[in-house]
Amino acid sequence: MGAPKKPARRSQAWFGHEGKSGFLYRSWLKNQGYPHDMFDGRPVIGICNTWSELTPCNGHFRELAEFVKRGVYEAGGFPLEFPVMSPGETQMRPTAMLFRNLASMEVEESIRGNPLDGVVLLMGCDKTTPALLMGAASCDLPTIGLSGGPMLSGKWRGGDLGSGTGVWKMSEMVRAGEMSADEFVEAESNMHRSKGHCMTMGTASTMANMVEALGMSLPENAAIPAVDSRRSRLAQLTGRRIVEMVNEDLRMSRILTRKAFANAIRTNAAIGGSTNAVIHLLAIAGRMGVDLKLDDWDELGSKLPCLVNLQPSGTYLMEDYYYAGGLPAVLREISEHLDLDALTANGKTIGANIASAPCWNRDVIKPLAEPFKPEAGIAVLRGNLAPDGAVIKPSAASPHLLQHRGRAVVFDSIEDFNARIDDENLDIDENCVMVLQNCGPRGYPGMAEVGNMPLPTKVLKKGITDMVRISDARMSGTAYGTVVLHTSPEAAAGGPLALVRDGDIIELDVPNRRIHLEITDEEMAARRAQWKEPSRPARGWYKLYVDHVQQAHLGADLDILVGGSGAGVPRDSH
Ligand code: FES
Repeated sequence: MGAPKKPARRSQAWFGHEGKSGFLYRSWLKNQGYPHDMFDGRPVIGICNTWSELTPCNGHFRELAEFVKRGVYEAGGFPLEFPVMSPGETQMRPTAMLFRNLASMEVEESIRGNPLDGVVLLMGCDKTTPALLMGAASCDLPTIGLSGGPMLSGKWRGGDLGSGTGVWKMSEMVRAGEMSADEFVEAESNMHRSKGHCMTMGTASTMANMVEALGMSLPENAAIPAVDSRRSRLAQLTGRRIVEMVNEDLRMSRILTRKAFANAIRTNAAIGGSTNAVIHLLAIAGRMGVDLKLDDWDELGSKLPCLVNLQPSGTYLMEDYYYAGGLPAVLREISEHLDLDALTANGKTIGANIASAPCWNRDVIKPLAEPFKPEAGIAVLRGNLAPDGAVIKPSAASPHLLQHRGRAVVFDSIEDFNARIDDENLDIDENCVMVLQNCGPRGYPGMAEVGNMPLPTKVLKKGITDMVRISDARMSGTAYGTVVLHTSPEAAAGGPLALVRDGDIIELDVPNRRIHLEITDEEMAARRAQWKEPSRPARGWYKLYVDHVQQAHLGADLDILVGGSGAGVPRDSH
């Protein structure tokens, strides 16, 4: 039996060899029981899997991958599943975000170094979605996304309990003396009752919506619950479709155009999505070579209303969202604001996909004419405190604080904050501006989700639930409040945030997009002269990261990873 000879697919640079080389590439794979004709030039599909028991949101991905394989086989392809690093949001210290770029490098090199013609990305927990899209974009093979789906709604004492959002709320209630510690522990066992990712409109749900809005998945991918049989069916259909995409040579670069990113930004406003999407989409666009800037978020999306009544801003959860029609219903509602001719993974335009999308529950997905919240996108602030920008989600903020002047109370680390925030002698009240330094990409390192600092107990006890908070950190997509985030440059890079001192007056003016530290330029220069850069890590990934990470307004990708290297076949390994 000679070596298989079929179309000039990328995988044939491995499997199409005659002699010793082809023997080596094929024979070892055959130890898993694959017949010889699997190497005959049919599309080889990599299933890039972020399954991990340490990433509970992706804990069902081995089963999901089996459904993808069914579809690949049915369509005449050859599926090969491979694992990549899975940064789990709830477990990884100091923050899963420190490892997003590392995971993306692993994805990129795993795709390029292996005999693959197309890729299915299995994504769920917050960082796994951007990491896989970033890595795959740098290769630009035909690629389709499949999200793992949200958990079923949390249920406790006759009501819903939303991931993350419920934790922040209840922990403030415990601190304010409105809930007992025992009740708090009881709630812990009732919040997460099925496989899947956080079921609020947090970062994971937001990014699943972004995948679909970008056109990188089949329609309905964003919201089908993880344990709903329709998720398995979608996985099978995704497997079938990637084989067609390889045959059509439908690469990521044909889908991830500037139009697609503009659609995604507008969608993020309409769903009330997470501020984390700003950083992730900038990073993905950077890999794809698409010219996307921080200010595009404000210019394209900030005036759009939020239609989706989901926690943390609203009432419902992702399960309700899916039953109400999910993202297709939202996209149809905002269709006059979209580029309807953007191409999607099923080979049709987004306009064609949503043309007849129904909405089944107007309390969950509101009509454009009567939105859930007006002007709900991301606002980009600038001023002497954030020369390269900072972001705020006005729809999650308190209207009375959107224009505010207050006295700064400064914390130079999250440990400093935790040690002092409940000190009765801390000179702070509800009119102050809480400032947190050194939590940005370099400073933490990894830009942790600590920007939504809890309020001081003595303020909570007055019944106050919000204060202005400013940091170079990120915030969980499940959180809320008048929180200025992603201040750039960050404190650890010598940004003005590092120079704020207790008692300084800070002005926040969201309608005019301004964030200002009321000190003179001379005083700012004098403080800068005294500033010392924090010491940098000495070795390993931490060193590589801190030496190369870009600031938040550029997506916090490593400078050496921006752009792509394509999917050329590397030189032979033997
Ligand atoms: Fe994984 Fe929220 S912790 S999605």
